[in-house]
Amino acid sequence: MDLYEYQARDLFEKHGVPVLPAAIATTADEAEAAAIKVGGKVVVKAQVKVGGRGKAGGVKLAVDPADAREKASAILGMDIKGHEVRTVMIAAAAPIESEYYLAILLDRSNRTFLVMASVAGGMEIEEVAHTAPEKLAKIPVDSNVGIDLARANEIIAAAKFPADVADQVASVLVKLWETFVSEDATLVEVNPLVKTSDGKIIALDGKVTLDDNAGFRHPDHEALVDQAAENALEAAAKAKNLNYVKLEGQVGIIGNGAGLVMSTLDVVAYAGEKFGGVRPANFLDIGGGASAQVMADGLSIILGDKDVKSVFVNVFGGITACDAVANGIVQALELLGAQATKPIVVRLDGNNVVEGRAILTAAAHPLVEQLDTMDGAANRAAELAAK
Ligand SMILES: Nc1ncnc2c1ncn2[C@@H]1O[C@H](COP(=O)(O)OP(=O)(O)O)[C@@H](O)[C@H]1O
Ligand SMILES: [Mg+2]
Repeated sequence: MDLYEYQARDLFEKHGVPVLPAAIATTADEAEAAAIKVGGKVVVKAQVKVGGRGKAGGVKLAVDPADAREKASAILGMDIKGHEVRTVMIAAAAPIESEYYLAILLDRSNRTFLVMASVAGGMEIEEVAHTAPEKLAKIPVDSNVGIDLARANEIIAAAKFPADVADQVASVLVKLWETFVSEDATLVEVNPLVKTSDGKIIALDGKVTLDDNAGFRHPDHEALVDQAAENALEAAAKAKNLNYVKLEGQVGIIGNGAGLVMSTLDVVAYAGEKFGGVRPANFLDIGGGASAQVMADGLSIILGDKDVKSVFVNVFGGITACDAVANGIVQALELLGAQATKPIVVRLDGNNVVEGRAILTAAAHPLVEQLDTMDGAANRAAELAAK
């Protein structure tokens, strides 16, 4: 999960990274009030999860609260690279003398963590990496050792930070490492990290990506999720611990196991070509335990997608045998009752397949059709969706 700048700023503050006083606003009125609270000259900053806001006109200086109101009403509602601005941050304006760059990230290709540091901050770092690679230091971090002050000093020296700020920048780097580790981030980036005219080092812009796989360790991260931007069905699925992903087509897909679900998507898209380009509408991985309740939850989410014209349930019985899955489908349809309105094509195979198919045949639900093969079932689901 990528955070908004104001959320990154709050995490920085929590871990002792120096930041400026700031408040957020969603209306011009709130922006004026926030500017009064922050005091003095402020900057009004569009809160969108995309870089280059400054260049796009999403960062504006305001001399007083009335000016902040005006700048906020211009920025709120703006479209920045396809992102609508719904929130602005009002931050104290810093007297900037120099702009630096500092980041810690997970370097997947080298299986390590990496510090990137540059005295040429402010602009897009890709630009620096391209035009003046010697100005961007890239220094791997051993995860067993981390970044203590001694290591931070080495890194800052290697990145050739000026002597008058080196100590402060090293201390910021240690705190960024603490943020990175204790919040389970895969990226913390400060661009620019500035030196003010009175010689202080401050993080002026922050970007943080949190590792969703570590979410269970951080109940407080739940509050950082942007509910308004989340798809309602994805949110409902998440609440039930199901992996649901919305796509653009017409066939709803339920399967067990990521590998089977991925190949089901391909097979449906391939079969759909014969029916005018029918494609998967979504997919939901019910994982290993396809109980009646899990199946009912899954089916109700898939059927809740108005784009779905037919459903393909593709299950390979393993630890959860086909008869249990079949019972799950039957009970799920009982639980759903009139909520189930779309044709459902089921392909069962694997452990206890004979018993599973017999259960569905005996139940003879009018919406359910069984096919023996994955290709056959994909074909039928696509055909039904095209009708
Ligand atoms: N609080 C601030 N005070 C003064 N100038 C700022 C402040 N915040 C941002 N700026 C200026 O605006 C530029 C762009 O802002 P930034 O927050 O980095 O957004 P982005 O990276 O999306 O363009 C910064 O490089 C800095 O020069
Ligand atoms: Mg920036």
